[in-house]
Amino acid sequence: MRITIFGTGYVGLVTGACFAEVGNHVVCVDVDGDKIARLNRGEVPIYEPGLEALVARNRAAGRLVFTTDAAEGVAHGRFQFIAVGTPPDEDGSADLRHVLAVAGTIAEHMEDFKVVVDKSTVPVGTADRVRETVAAGLAERGTQVPFAVVSNPEFLKEGAAVEDFMKPDRVILGTDDERSAELLRALYAPFNRNHDRLIVMDVRSAELTKYAANAMLATKISFMNELANIADRVGADIERVRIGIGSDPRIGYHFIYPGAGYGGSCFPKDVKALARTAYDVDYTPQLLQAVEDVNDRQKHYLFSRIREHFRGELAGRTFALWGLAFKPNTDDMREAASRRLMESLWEAGARVQAHDPKAMAETRRVYGERPELALVDSPEAALEGADALVILTEWNLFRSPDFETIRERLSAPVIFDGRNLYDPEILAGLGFHYYAVGRPLRAPAVDGAEERA
Ligand code: UDX
Repeated sequence: MRITIFGTGYVGLVTGACFAEVGNHVVCVDVDGDKIARLNRGEVPIYEPGLEALVARNRAAGRLVFTTDAAEGVAHGRFQFIAVGTPPDEDGSADLRHVLAVAGTIAEHMEDFKVVVDKSTVPVGTADRVRETVAAGLAERGTQVPFAVVSNPEFLKEGAAVEDFMKPDRVILGTDDERSAELLRALYAPFNRNHDRLIVMDVRSAELTKYAANAMLATKISFMNELANIADRVGADIERVRIGIGSDPRIGYHFIYPGAGYGGSCFPKDVKALARTAYDVDYTPQLLQAVEDVNDRQKHYLFSRIREHFRGELAGRTFALWGLAFKPNTDDMREAASRRLMESLWEAGARVQAHDPKAMAETRRVYGERPELALVDSPEAALEGADALVILTEWNLFRSPDFETIRERLSAPVIFDGRNLYDPEILAGLGFHYYAVGRPLRAPAVDGAEERA
């Protein structure tokens, strides 16, 4: 089948490469000429496991083409996927400028029946606006060409995006048009194995489903972070509580890890956008508001602990940071907990020595060269002479470090762990001041931290 994808970000690129992988002919269009040139040289601008090989293989086979030529793109595909960004406006609502611009472009060039598919995360009612925009564009040309608009939200996770696309839990199709539903069913057939994973519904419900899924997941995290704060104050261990509640299948073990607050390109943006939608229809979204507030506070959690430990004296200190990306297996820094922490530390006059297996180039891009930030090429190098170690991303590399080395290289044995990677008993036994999220502090067996701090 012939497919056109507008937008070569995470969603567009993964969608294009995966559709090509099962034998379709895919044209990816982007207005960013640099990005297209890089893709045409075989460079994949984002780190996503498996993606580079997929792109290379399908480009070589001629099934995956990158272009800035929108006319070529519209002419190519029966399916026209819209996978462009929807950044938040100042008021938190999703900015639909790019989505509607693509709809206009499709209308400008289309000559035969097209299925326009919304893959971008867009507020309820967007498919109607896309339909209106395409219709208006056709009217302007004085032509009548049939088309349908379908909502097909994406549920991929960064770091597992290719896998999620190839083996989806579900494919949501929002449409009231039988013909498009059948065409999309055929398009998704290679990914729809073992049992039927296609869920067809009306357009608005499909649009809301995407937000509902992300808001539910964000709610689980904020709930656990709230509980972690309560655990701190009552002397309980949130990790034991997590295991205790997860054993109830109605609650489950997934996605109930407390931490330094959720980040990424989806949760923060989508919770805000859904709240905005609610306000727009005169409903006060109390729970969503709280989910966001709790997360905001949580991003400050480690900094508060650090400030307390050093009794407010942070100026001139150096902190080792392990992990910069908002989660492992990605180089994405959007809304990463590391950013808020680094910025607070800098504001307090401290320096940061950081290591991340994938996100250092991105960190450099975001913050540029600055004296208060050293990006170093190993976790051990980050420790050198630092006053404490702070862990922000649970990369596997950090799960089983040599604590002896950590103790030797830090100027005092102090760890602030935003991901609860280690056993507090063991760390106390090794003489560390070990601060985790929602876990009681245990006095270090061999003290040395206070005098040297
Ligand atoms: C998310 C959804 O999972 C995905 O289905 C949707 O399509 C896009 O948004 P992603 O943003 O890639 O995907 O990351 P995810 O793995 O969901 O993690 C989001 C954030 O929540 C990370 O900062 C992570 O550290 C945090 N998190 C996750 C927790 O703090 N605790 C948890 O238990 C799980």
